[in-house]
Amino acid sequence: ALKVVIIGGGSSYTPEIMEGFLKRYEQFPVTDIVLVDVKAGEEKVKIVTALAKRMVLKAGKDIRVSYTFNRKEALQGADFVTTQIRVGGLQARAYDERIPLKHGMIGQETNGAGGIMKAFRTIPVMLEIAQEMHEICPDAWLINFTNPAGIVTEAVMNHSPFKNVIGVCNIPFNMRSGVGELFQVPAERVMIEFVGLNHFVFGRKVYIDGVDRTAEAMHHLIYDDVDYSPANIVALPWNKQFLKTLNMLPNPYHQYYFQHEQVLKKDVEAYQTNVTRAEVVMEVEEALFKKYQSPNLDVKPEELEQRGGAYYSEAACNVMTSIYNNSMDVQTVNTLNNGTITDLPADCVIEVNSVITASGPMPLSIGNLPAVISGAIVQMKQYERLVVEAAVTGDYSKAYAAMIMNPLVTSDDKAQVVLDELLHVHQSNLPQF
Ligand code: G6P
Ligand code: MN
Repeated sequence: ALKVVIIGGGSSYTPEIMEGFLKRYEQFPVTDIVLVDVKAGEEKVKIVTALAKRMVLKAGKDIRVSYTFNRKEALQGADFVTTQIRVGGLQARAYDERIPLKHGMIGQETNGAGGIMKAFRTIPVMLEIAQEMHEICPDAWLINFTNPAGIVTEAVMNHSPFKNVIGVCNIPFNMRSGVGELFQVPAERVMIEFVGLNHFVFGRKVYIDGVDRTAEAMHHLIYDDVDYSPANIVALPWNKQFLKTLNMLPNPYHQYYFQHEQVLKKDVEAYQTNVTRAEVVMEVEEALFKKYQSPNLDVKPEELEQRGGAYYSEAACNVMTSIYNNSMDVQTVNTLNNGTITDLPADCVIEVNSVITASGPMPLSIGNLPAVISGAIVQMKQYERLVVEAAVTGDYSKAYAAMIMNPLVTSDDKAQVVLDELLHVHQSNLPQF
């Protein structure tokens, strides 16, 4: 038997990971998939389970699919557990986006004040899940997509007895396939040396078929129209000198930091017309769930590409398949630094290329960070550590420290006003505060 448990199984993203399992069935012969969700999400998880069953039937595979609200029961005998939960749902996301924007700061679910709050809501639940896995399925692997994925993974790694945790994100895969398009080769032939943190990662080197083509990749990026942004990010063209000076691939989320003024202006306008990303996603979800209910639908619908996390199954399923087969191939994951990046503490989580083995990821050495990004990455990591500290202790002063040390939080006063408003609206999902 090969059992996968998907926590947050009622998510509209689930058909994506189902497709990933079906595509890889020969290498990863999963026998049981259990979708776990909370009772409040009953309607959604029922719809998704029914669709998942139709997908399995259509593919003609022998996989049992079921759903449950009993997480501990689901974890019995699990080999892989994936987490794709959204504590507080999209309504909570709307607050994370809108309250900072109301005060003239970036409002985003993984960056700035919004990302801090998402971490505060998510980390206690993730620590509970990790504790349960430690007791019920200690040899299983936890593959986490829940954002902010790097911070959440670090919290589990350092504050729970359970260490088999790996954080994944679709951004590195998107960047590889975007670069592949430039060179007209599939993503599998592209290797990018990623350095940094989740949603703050850079591509230091580009290899096509093992040959260093970084200079050409940078040339394309500077002079051609290249966009590898996910659906949730509207890319603004990068300043050419920025790219020349950086001499690395930025990731789409870097716009919040290096195009701060332009993005803020655009996002404040979206706030004023009542459509930040949360509202857009609510509409996309509604349409998706309507579609999912159609008894004739038995594949992942194309419309799922309107979600920013499209193709996350590439990252998720590849990691599971390689652990299962001890493939020893290279993938980009969030894992323990342990000396890989010498500028950062050994016990922090970084996003980096790793050899994926049956014993987990073994990161490939990076050494010193390039001077141009070293300061920014060290600062971001120190900020992330403050977030984890605050999330596990519920200490107000630590929460304020995380806020004020985030580069997107613009003043001492606003840090407090926004923190207080957010803590207030999220009260019911913040037992630690
Ligand atoms: C990107 C990120 C994910 C994030 C998603 C948001 O793909 O890598 O971490 O969850 O965007 O997409 P959404 O459709 O929810 O705005
Ligand atoms: Mn991500």
